[in-house]
Amino acid sequence: MSRFAGKTIVVTGSGKEKGLGQGILRRFADEGANCVVSDLLIDAEAEGVAEELRARGAKVTAVACDVSDPGQCQALVDQAVAAFGTVDIFVNNAGIGFMMKPLLEVDPKDWATVIAVNLSGAFYCTQAAAKAMIAGGKGGRIINIASQAAKTGFPHLPAYVSSKHGMVGLTRASALELGAHGITVNAVCPNHVTTGLGGQQNEYFSKLLGFDSVEAYLANMSAKNPMGRPGLPSDTAAACAWLASQDAFYVTGEALNVSGGEEMH
Ligand SMILES: NC(=O)c1ccc[n+]([C@@H]2O[C@H](COP(=O)([O-])OP(=O)(O)OC[C@H]3O[C@@H](n4cnc5c(N)ncnc54)[C@H](O)[C@@H]3O)[C@@H](O)[C@H]2O)c1
Repeated sequence: MSRFAGKTIVVTGSGKEKGLGQGILRRFADEGANCVVSDLLIDAEAEGVAEELRARGAKVTAVACDVSDPGQCQALVDQAVAAFGTVDIFVNNAGIGFMMKPLLEVDPKDWATVIAVNLSGAFYCTQAAAKAMIAGGKGGRIINIASQAAKTGFPHLPAYVSSKHGMVGLTRASALELGAHGITVNAVCPNHVTTGLGGQQNEYFSKLLGFDSVEAYLANMSAKNPMGRPGLPSDTAAACAWLASQDAFYVTGEALNVSGGEEMH
């Protein structure tokens, strides 16, 4: 398929092997999109992600961006436009989910860091991407990678859960104002996926909940999931591809669960 031939996608926090961002870019590369890999640093790992996308046939550029800095978010969009002429699809994927502590022990600095990246970062990038899409005059798609933690509470992750709930609010508020420009804004809410971030959560929660091993914790998670397994990056990527496709033009302001039925509201 080449549904996204000639389109440009930017994914923040996409420079890690096995991350959701890499999975999303693989799917869009396979469907013909120009890809912008972005992460805090464009290090050897991020260069490797970019190189693999080129091997899949995509035109790729890689741009460093700390999404907690509004100026860097604007520069990311500017560099994407300079490289490919437009930004058609922007995915707010960068996130911090490794600060796990009981509510009463969370340091205000850690709280602020998580909100700055997960929520404020998505806001800064939404502003910058939407301005470029409006200037381009062809509409666009903004997709926020929220979480199951946007729909329900989890212990020892108060800042993460709050930031992800906030992302759904940002999605709805942005969708209302950007629809007039042909821009849809939606969130995707994946359940657990064993990425770098997900792996750190596995280590912590398997101990917290008294499992003998991470494997036993994951087996229990699979047994409780209606579809019998945790999520995969390709599940989230498929949802993003649909939301970015012409078929989803009339869908905006939604927060789509991609959880094998683990989350249903
Ligand atoms: N893995 C899961 O179980 C899961 C489930 C639901 C949602 N998510 C969300 O998916 C997204 C991707 O996470 P992942 O699981 O692929 O983990 P990951 O650790 O592979 O990806 C997170 C990425 O964000 C980057 N990042 C961190 N701080 C940044 C900053 N200030 N600026 C730019 N980039 C920054 C990291 O370098 C990393 O590449 C996150 O928003 C996460 O909350 C993950």
